[in-house]
Amino acid sequence: MCGIVGYIGYREAYPIVIKGLKRLEYRGYDSAGVMLYDGEELKLCKTKGKVSDLEKKASKAITTNGTIGIGHTRWATHGVPNDVNSHPHLSNSGDLAIIHNGIIENYAPLKEELIKRGYVFHSDTDTEVLVNLIEEVQKKENLKLGKAVQVALNQVVGAYAIAVFDKKNPNEIVAARLGSPLAIGVGEGEYFIASDASPFIEYTSNAIYLEDGEMANIRLHKAMKIRKIKDDSLVDPYIQELQMNLEQIEKGGYDHFMLKEIYEQPNVIKDTYRGRLHANEGIIQMAGVEDNLEKFLNADRIIIVACGTSWHAGLVAEYIFEEFARISVEVEYASEFRYRNPIINSKDVVIAISQSGETADTMAAIKLAKEHGAFVFGVCNVVGSSISRETHAGAYTHAGPEIGVASTKAFTTQITVLTMIALRLAKAKGTLSNSAFHAYLQELEIIPEKVKEALETNEKAKEIASVFKDAPNCLYLGRGYNFPVALEGALKLKEISYIHAEGYPAAEMKHGPIALIDEQMPVVVIAPKQGHYDKIVSNIQEIKSRSGKIIAVVTKGDTQVRELADYVIEIPETSDALSPLITTIPLQLLSYHIAVMRGCNVDQPRNLAKSVTVE
Ligand code: M6R
Repeated sequence: MCGIVGYIGYREAYPIVIKGLKRLEYRGYDSAGVMLYDGEELKLCKTKGKVSDLEKKASKAITTNGTIGIGHTRWATHGVPNDVNSHPHLSNSGDLAIIHNGIIENYAPLKEELIKRGYVFHSDTDTEVLVNLIEEVQKKENLKLGKAVQVALNQVVGAYAIAVFDKKNPNEIVAARLGSPLAIGVGEGEYFIASDASPFIEYTSNAIYLEDGEMANIRLHKAMKIRKIKDDSLVDPYIQELQMNLEQIEKGGYDHFMLKEIYEQPNVIKDTYRGRLHANEGIIQMAGVEDNLEKFLNADRIIIVACGTSWHAGLVAEYIFEEFARISVEVEYASEFRYRNPIINSKDVVIAISQSGETADTMAAIKLAKEHGAFVFGVCNVVGSSISRETHAGAYTHAGPEIGVASTKAFTTQITVLTMIALRLAKAKGTLSNSAFHAYLQELEIIPEKVKEALETNEKAKEIASVFKDAPNCLYLGRGYNFPVALEGALKLKEISYIHAEGYPAAEMKHGPIALIDEQMPVVVIAPKQGHYDKIVSNIQEIKSRSGKIIAVVTKGDTQVRELADYVIEIPETSDALSPLITTIPLQLLSYHIAVMRGCNVDQPRNLAKSVTVE
């Protein structure tokens, strides 16, 4: 989704804004732009393409070393990606400049009205409508920027994070949010505005996260004012100390963030259970769960809402919760749940899973569940994110910033958190034997070592990638706990390599997908020794008899599948329930290498955004 950066202070703004935009590249975008104020004029430079293209263009267009600037990476919603539709957008007078992340849903009638009043539009965007609406309000009611922004925002329907600058009052930037994230970095005599804190982490570790429906008047040499857009009431700014550091958001010697994040998994899984899992004492303690234990224990069922990879983690959790804690679980795509009049009651516990904590559909599903009186528990990675604030309680995954658009460490840490919750409930309910409970705790504690071992499949994954990199299609099959892993493997491949891939429960193959199998079709089968091993061996035989190319993920030492498969990837032995934490690793590596060999942009795949803050 779009990325926003702004600076007002004493330093040269351009390098801060450009570097900030680069940090936000992971969000996904198709064009970029900057506006600098040189003390007299607004200098604008915009282009379709990457921030590096913007830099090239700006080296001629931007000659100022002004100390106020705003910049934007655009992920197109209204209007194709081109130079004109890129942000910032100027108002008709040329006085106001705006950057915007989100969608103004009622832009069409507003635009019509403004055209009647003589406004001219150069782009197809909803954002240009908003900046002219602000200008119209300003003129008509003779208002200062902050007030005009507030009046205009009360007329719009939709979602936004915006930063607006007015050259008539150049000591101020006005920022506001509803539904899209916005952080303000507070330095000594300087302020930073950004979609997340990564653009300003090296300048200040003090940040204010605007809440939905709030706006900020960010003024040089004056205290910042934060107020509610609706009723103008003032809000005390809550300054948060950031936990993130610069190292975490840099590549650390890896070619891509995705690869770095795949390799971080042994450590971040440890971070996820640190202080929560005490295997020797037989204790699992998570504040959000302990404080609400009764709600979990009295729940008629658990409804999990999520999107994409987080939804796959939810599917794994369904198997784990039902097996360990004997609670009925339903896993819902947040985007379907929110629009299908679901039956929710006050005895339901809803678990919302989201890496970013900003996904619009998941957020809407949470609001719906709350309206029906359900208790909503969040599993988020980004600390202070909208979903972590909207839910009644929750548990962070502590995976650290995930920059690669393809989720990897978010998935395994989400499963780790959900497994711990299931184990805690199992203990309280007595649904697992004591010995099984202790065995799982012990095994979870050593899972990072097994993940490390699974990472040793990298060379094998690379070799297999070189064979199948040009395949047009690929099938992923798994059973039980590893069915969601098959879905996740297929998603990883399609999103970063653009190869069409499908994940299926292996037994479902014969109800349709088997028709696809011929000697051209690579089939990745997740076949660890535990679980439904014999059944999956039969499925592999079915593929073999139709000449499909079999790539099997097997437990070390396996001989049966090895005889049938064209390629095998060996992983360490694990219990069935914890196997997704291991089986997913070679699949991440396989898709990574295929994408690299196909020359794809691994960290920023086409059309995708890291956090999907629009419907
Ligand atoms: O931030 P969230 O976990 O809510 O994001 C959900 C999906 O958009 C996300 O998992 C997406 O599917 C990833 N690109 C998958 O790699």
